[in-house]
Parts: sequence; structure tokens; C-alpha cells
Amino acid sequence: MNKQAQLLRPEIEAKIDALLSQMTLLEKAGQLTQLGPTMLEGVGVDSFLDDPEAMQKVKLDYHEDWIREGVVGSYLGVQGAEKINRLQKIAVEETRLGIPLIFGLDVIHGYRTMFPIPLAEACSWEPDLARRTAEVAAREASAAGLHWTFAPMVDIARDARWGRIAEGAGEDTFLGSAFAAARVQGFQGDDLADPQHVAACAKHYIAYGAAVAGRDYNTVEMAVQTLHDVYLPPFASAADAGAATFMSAFNDLNGVPTSANRYTLTDILRGKLGFNGFVVSDWNSIGELVPHGHAADRKDAGKKALLAGVDMDMVTESYRHDIPELVEAGVIPMSVVDEAVRRVLRVKFLLGLFDRPFRSDAETESAALLRPAHLDLAREAARRSIVLLKNVGGLLPLKQAARKIAVIGPLADSPFDMLGSWSFTGSRRDVVSILGGIQSATEAEVLYARGCDIDDKLPADFAQAIEAASQAEVVIVVVGESAKMSGEAASRMNLGLPGHQEDLLKALKAMGKPLVVVLSNGRPLSIPWIAENADAILETWQLGVQAGPAVADVLFGAYNPGGKLVTSFPYAVGQCPIYYNRTSTGRPATEFWFTSKYIDGPVAPLYPFGFGLSYTTFEYADLEVRKAAGRVTVSATVKNTGAVAGEEVAQLYVGDVVGSRVRPIKELKGFQKLLLAPGESRKLTFELKVADLGFHNVDMQYVVEPGLFKVWVGTNSAEGLAGEFWLDEADVQ
Ligand code: BGC
Repeated sequence: MNKQAQLLRPEIEAKIDALLSQMTLLEKAGQLTQLGPTMLEGVGVDSFLDDPEAMQKVKLDYHEDWIREGVVGSYLGVQGAEKINRLQKIAVEETRLGIPLIFGLDVIHGYRTMFPIPLAEACSWEPDLARRTAEVAAREASAAGLHWTFAPMVDIARDARWGRIAEGAGEDTFLGSAFAAARVQGFQGDDLADPQHVAACAKHYIAYGAAVAGRDYNTVEMAVQTLHDVYLPPFASAADAGAATFMSAFNDLNGVPTSANRYTLTDILRGKLGFNGFVVSDWNSIGELVPHGHAADRKDAGKKALLAGVDMDMVTESYRHDIPELVEAGVIPMSVVDEAVRRVLRVKFLLGLFDRPFRSDAETESAALLRPAHLDLAREAARRSIVLLKNVGGLLPLKQAARKIAVIGPLADSPFDMLGSWSFTGSRRDVVSILGGIQSATEAEVLYARGCDIDDKLPADFAQAIEAASQAEVVIVVVGESAKMSGEAASRMNLGLPGHQEDLLKALKAMGKPLVVVLSNGRPLSIPWIAENADAILETWQLGVQAGPAVADVLFGAYNPGGKLVTSFPYAVGQCPIYYNRTSTGRPATEFWFTSKYIDGPVAPLYPFGFGLSYTTFEYADLEVRKAAGRVTVSATVKNTGAVAGEEVAQLYVGDVVGSRVRPIKELKGFQKLLLAPGESRKLTFELKVADLGFHNVDMQYVVEPGLFKVWVGTNSAEGLAGEFWLDEADVQ
């Protein structure tokens, strides 16, 4: 039985019927209303971007009277078991029907134990790692009284300008679908009523990552086939994994806002995907239908959202104010309201909130956070997220023989920036910085200088950095982006290093010492100068509380990096959006002038999707492609040809050469991560189902078309052993 079907249980549906028959229209509207506490005094919203602990300094109004009136069904943004229990007590003890509240929060990559940002973690190519970190995040969040996380974000992101690329699994549909399922499974476990788990929320439904020009909240125009073939599958995967909730998005899709889009919310989600949970709007995305130019006023917005299939209103407060009137005026049928309430109550029952409204208490909460096992997992996840981009002459791992090491750069000792976006439940005090990690891992003298600020507008003075470097045998420079330069509302129109960081690198390079660049950032950067001039480059993203130890593990060789990029790195921002699974044009780039390319730079990315080096080397051989009984079997041998053990992510790509709609040049269809000892080789086998090789044609039918297919097995999306197979009419029946 599929996992959405499992959300329907006759005994629960009967309880919902009984409740619905007793509820007033206002109480129903209340169940569909999610509020956040209102800030009475304290810091401005923007300060959360600079200080994860700013929340503690704020005085909030929790609207307890509204709970008593029965006009609130859910809260977001309430932190801590004590506060949550206080509000829950009002709901279950002081309201007419005693329906419990559901409390949600953005637990995106950890609650208190902050793990690597999701983009980083996906570079491990280990969905099971993501499942495990989500499970720990759920355990901590649940101990803090929460029932629900607004995660995973499963938006495909092909544009590095978009700051929210940090929150997802990158540009690829196949890999993104695997991570979507794993994260849902990690958050929810096998039983939502288990107080170690929380309900997941697949967001932002849908196509939010395709914002024109990479500008957040911007419009999206896309062929409906692309929607179904590229952007929908990770959501389908989350639904199949049993995701109890979805979040509608801010963007419009081909002119219809996704928070009022009946085609996507009802026809596809409830219909095609068989989704039985509930949909919550994004923050005020119902209210924003007005400035969007899709609704005349708040009431019109609420009507359009509810009729389209948004069950719960996040903070707009249209539903609680407008639904009663809309129903009484005959504009919205009561059956539509009842269906939405049913979905919300279903999830509350499945979470066991009616039997156990108080999930935790303060004592359980403090005992559950930052446990040693959680920190161990944070370190493991962090080092598995690191991608080695360059390593000339085997400079890394660093030889312990060095007596003096210079550690330079604005991100070397910047604990807060290691947390990345969505880390307000974390604390910078929990973080071991990269400098701290290096200091604990080496006997060498570590000479530290900040060098410059991340985003300095004033002229920079590199004197201290030069002095430190002049004494050292090797220079490690940690540069990149601050935590608030990615995530929501953090689109960038330049993708190079901000401020004077590249000038700092140039000054250090001029000294002629071995130069290791450690990047810490929330999106792919365009860094051609670094690619050309650094001796070694580690992409470390934002690795969370154990950033320092993880980076040190890789720098000194306690761990051999095996991460691979999940987004293409552009040479220049002008290449964006750039992704490997593009379709070909009628004039693929050649030397000839009149072909599809740039006159001032390459067409190919700086680093392709799937790219990542190791301290060892791997060789691929013996590609075999066989077809039998609705399946294509592809096998190859991978050998560790270097001197140390290492992990390799072997990737399988398939290209449908001729299609009734132009097909991507290649698409990821399989991957396997394997650990090989020096000299060891292993035969890998990938099984492809013919049914998985299709796409949506012009008539929106999913078809597998006969003809020639190419296959590649290799170390990244741009290299690999090439083969082919042919599908006959009979194969695709
Ligand atoms: C974001 C969502 C988030 C919500 C609640 C919105 O601004 O787009 O991703 O879940 O706020 O915090």
C-alpha cells in the first residue's frame, strides 16, 4: 500500500466525521488558521539574519485569547516545550471542543545540533545520511515540543543567483527525488505518532526554484512538460514517502500564483499524486495574491486559495476572518471547508495529538539537545559534504611535517557563518570554527590573520595576513559568503567572492607559497581565478556546528573527501541558469562562429554537476549494456588506482537521442557510492526500467519512445565511458 493511502484510516476518519458534525463555521475556519506570535518589542526581523539568538531578546504576544475563541488551529515560530505546552493547554482545556494545536517551525538542517546546509549534505550523494540527520533534527525538535517541520525543501534549483539554492538538493531531478524521500523518511519515521518524529512539509510547491533571473519570489514561466518531468518528481517522491503536508509557494506559474493554483494543488497534488495530507500556504502567500494582481482584496485572496486547494492559511488571517462570510454568502461550498478541515484534523490525529497533546517538557528538551551522538553525526555529515575541487601535486592532505601553517580569511574564525541560513534555533556558541578545528588537529604552529572582511566596501589592509603567510610553509585561506548571503531573499547578481577576498588571495598567491583555498558559501560561486591559481580547493559550504573538525579531518587526511557537486559552477554569472541536463540546440557550440555559445567565455561550466576529486584516483573500464525483458542493465568496473582508500560516486547518465519533444542531452538515472581500498576494483551494475526512460510529450502523455539511447558511466556528468542501446516498439509497449 502506498504511503499516502496509509494516511487514511477508517477509525480516524470516523472521529473526524464526529468532530466535524459538532463544529461551528468559525471553529472550522480556526482549524485552517496558522498564526505566528506577534513581536511586541525587541530587535527587527532583519537581526535574525545576524544573530541566531536574537529570538531570545524579543517580547512576543502569543494571542492566547484567540486560542480560547477557537480561531487558531496552528502556530509557527513558537520555540521551546514550555511555551508550546502553555498554549496547547489552553487549546485542549479551555476551548469548547478541546482540539489540540499543531506547532510548526523551520527545522531545515538541524534544530540545535546544526548540520550542513541541505545543498552541502546532498554533495555526499548519500540519501541515507540525510535521512539520519533529519531523524536527529526531528528528535531534537520534537523534544522541544514541536510537531511539524517546514522541510524538506525539494525545489529543483538551476540558478546560482537564487539564494535558496542552499536549502535544497541542487539541480538534478533524480538525485533531488532520492533526497526528498530520505528527508521525509528521516523526519517522519514509520509512525507520525512516535514522539521522536515530526510531520514533514514538502516545499515550496511548485517550481519556486525557477524564478526568472534567480530573483527570489519572482515569476516562473515554464512548459507544463518541464513542470512534470523536472520540477514535480521530487514532490512526487516526497508524497510517495508519506509527506503529511505540503507548502504552496510564493511564485506564480505561467501566470497563476502557486498559492491559488487549482491545477497544481488539486488536479496534480490531490489527484495525480494521491496526496491525503494538508497544504499550508507560505508566509502570507495568500495575502500576497493581492499585490500579485490575482485577487482584489484579502477576502478574494482567501477564496481563491481555498478553492484551489490551500488548506491552511499561514499568517494572512484571511481564512478565520473571511471563510464564514464566504460560506454564508454561498461563494464557497461548506464541503470545500469540510474537506480542508478534515485534512488538517487527519494529520493531528495521525500525530497522536488528541491522545498526547503535550509532546515534551523542558527537562526532556534540554536532555535531548546536542547529544554526543548528534555531534558525531554532525561531524560525519560535514566531512561527507566537502568537495575537493583541485589538488595540484597532491598538496592535500597536508603533511604533518609542516611547522608553521598560516590560516587566513574572514571565514576562518566565523562560527555564525558556519551555520548557514535557517539556523535561528542554533547557536554560534555550539560551533567549532575552521580555525579551531585546524588548531586541534595539528602540532604545527597556526598563525591566524583575518585578512579582510567578507563584504568590505573600504580599502583593505592585508599587512597582517602577509606577515602570517610569510612565516608559514603553507597558506590556508578561508573565503566565501556570510550566512545571510544565501537563503531566503538573498539572491545575488554577482557570483564572485564578495568584497576584497579575491584581492587578498591574489596578494597571498604573489608570495609563492602553497595556497589552499577553503570555500564556505551557500551557492555555487564563479571563481575562475581561484580555479586557475590555487594549488588546492576545498568546497566546504556551510557545515554546521562541526565545521572545524570536519574541515581539519579532510585537510590533514583523517578523512579522504568523496563529495561531488550537485550544482554546476558557472564561469561567470552570465551563464546562469546553467545545468548539465540541458537540451541541445540546432547549433551546438563548435569553433564555427554561428553556433550557440558566448563570444567572451566558455559554454561549459567551470565545474560540472557530479564533479569532485579524491586523494586517490579511480579508473572506469568494461562498460557493458544489455537489454532484456523491459530492463536495460548497465555495468562497469571501477578501480582505485591510487595509494589510499577512497570513496567514489559512480554516476549513470542516459540520453534519448531523438524525441518527439527535444530531449536532454543526458540525465542522471543512477548512482552508487563505493569505498575501495588501494588497487581494489569492483563491478557495478545498474538496472534501468524501460518505463523510467520516458517523458511528457506534446499531448502531455507520459511516453517512452523507441529509438537510440546513449549511456555514460563515470565520475561526473562531463566524463565517462560511453555506450548505447536501442529500444524497439516492442520494448516500449
Ligand atoms: C519561507 C518558508 C518558511 C516560512 C515559515 C517563508 O518566508 O518561504 O520556507 O517555511 O517562511 O517560516
